[in-house]
Amino acid sequence: MKRRLLDWLACPACRGAIALTRAVPDAGDIREGELACGHCGVRYPITRGIPRLVPPALAAAVRATVERFGYEWTRFAELRPEYEAQLLGWMAPVGRDAFVGQRVLDAGCGKGRHLRLASAFGAKEVIGVDLGLAVDVAAQNTADLDNVHVVQGDLTRPPLRRESLDLIYSIGVLHHLPEPEAGFRALSPLLVPGGRFVAWLYAREGNGWVLALVDPARRLTSRLPLPFVSGLAWVVAVPLWIALRVFYAPARTRPRLARALPYVSYLTDLVPFPFREVHSIAFDHLLAPVAHYMARARVERAFVEGGLTLESLRWHHANSWAASGRRVG
Ligand SMILES: C[S@@+](CC[C@H](N)C(=O)[O-])C[C@H]1O[C@@H](n2cnc3c(N)ncnc32)[C@H](O)[C@@H]1O
Repeated sequence: MKRRLLDWLACPACRGAIALTRAVPDAGDIREGELACGHCGVRYPITRGIPRLVPPALAAAVRATVERFGYEWTRFAELRPEYEAQLLGWMAPVGRDAFVGQRVLDAGCGKGRHLRLASAFGAKEVIGVDLGLAVDVAAQNTADLDNVHVVQGDLTRPPLRRESLDLIYSIGVLHHLPEPEAGFRALSPLLVPGGRFVAWLYAREGNGWVLALVDPARRLTSRLPLPFVSGLAWVVAVPLWIALRVFYAPARTRPRLARALPYVSYLTDLVPFPFREVHSIAFDHLLAPVAHYMARARVERAFVEGGLTLESLRWHHANSWAASGRRVG
């Protein structure tokens, strides 16, 4: 942990200021140590270079969600060059320019694949927050970047100071909260007035097959042991991979074939990925205990509830929402 990260940290329990009470330095950074809230006195450890500001009581569904994603990101830890175009697709019309010189939060950073990109896009400082052990993978994946910080914490009780950020983006996360609106309400006050909020979310609209087949399967598989679910995802990924090669790859240049295929926009986007990534995506869809497929009106309401104006709500790949707006000034 870099010492200047203290300027951003706040107690997740009472929002009091956080002080460093013990530190084992490692080349200027803090490898092991302890933080304490100056207001309520709760202490939080720093281990393996990561401040762990985890609230004491977590709901069972939240704990299961982040433990299961932690397993996924530990197993599929690698970063791929295709992630850049994918992130820009999820965020558009907000582009890489929006990062330049900004203090940025990746809300639910997973293995940290977008932290490196945010840094490369010119962010001043980037903080990745995740509640699971994915943070250890994110920290390893960004260890060489001086302007990237990783914090373990809950997005609904964020361990960060109010009005300390210019841009928050959250990719594929808020729909996994028990109540996605709680995430919008908790994160928005971290932005300065006029600060930007970007979220990519599963849509209800356009996901008929997923709602009929994948979602009921997920309700079962999210209770099963993870190595088994990973094996099951591999079995699902094999025919999907064959379909990507046989149908969706040629469909990129054959409009008549494209019109005949389901989920064509989404699945042609997966064509450049190797089998391992397709396996990881199938696994991701089967492991989560909570997944909300959000109707357009619900996304609009979540922005209003969060005190955010909605500037763009784009139906991405005709099965998800790329939503962006600003904190009301
Ligand atoms: C589908 S993954 C997306 C990760 C990352 N945004 C990406 O696109 O690679 C969802 C992530 O949200 C995290 N998450 C879920 N609930 C959370 C919470 N209450 N607080 C913080 N992180 C949470 C999970 O641990 C997981 O890493």
